[in-house]
Amino acid sequence: MKIIIASDHGAYELKEAIRKYLTDKGFDLYDDGIYADTDRTNCHYPEIAAKAAKRVASGEFDYGIILCGTGIGVSITANKINGIRAAHVGCEYDARYTRLHNDANILCIGGRTMGEGAACEIAEIFLTTEFSHGERHQKRIDMIAALEK
Ligand code: RB5
Repeated sequence: MKIIIASDHGAYELKEAIRKYLTDKGFDLYDDGIYADTDRTNCHYPEIAAKAAKRVASGEFDYGIILCGTGIGVSITANKINGIRAAHVGCEYDARYTRLHNDANILCIGGRTMGEGAACEIAEIFLTTEFSHGERHQKRIDMIAALEK
């Protein structure tokens, strides 16, 4: 399973913490930046989120984890890309059920709204929970996909 992780300056430190946590657990993570929190004027979450979302939508990565200050800006952006089901997650229950029921392929987290411990657990739950493959859930996901046409 290949995962891309990226953040803007609103979540650089939390992105680093999640990256280290998941790498230590053996996940195959590609870090698409930012690599330092130095240039806030030219750091734009729509560019960062769209880039990661396109790489997930193309199949290059199985899942994405994208972060900004609230996690909302990156989720709004990522959901503009066809094939992306980006979930702005605030607790472990959200993380589990957005995989089970929505087959979410991108996890969005807020660097200014969530602590490190919770964020790391949420990321792990997201990556280790399978879609339920139930007929009714698939039907609803197909309904979402139909809106992209
Ligand atoms: C950047 O200051 C902030 O607006 C961004 O990280 C994010 O919270 C947007 O949704």
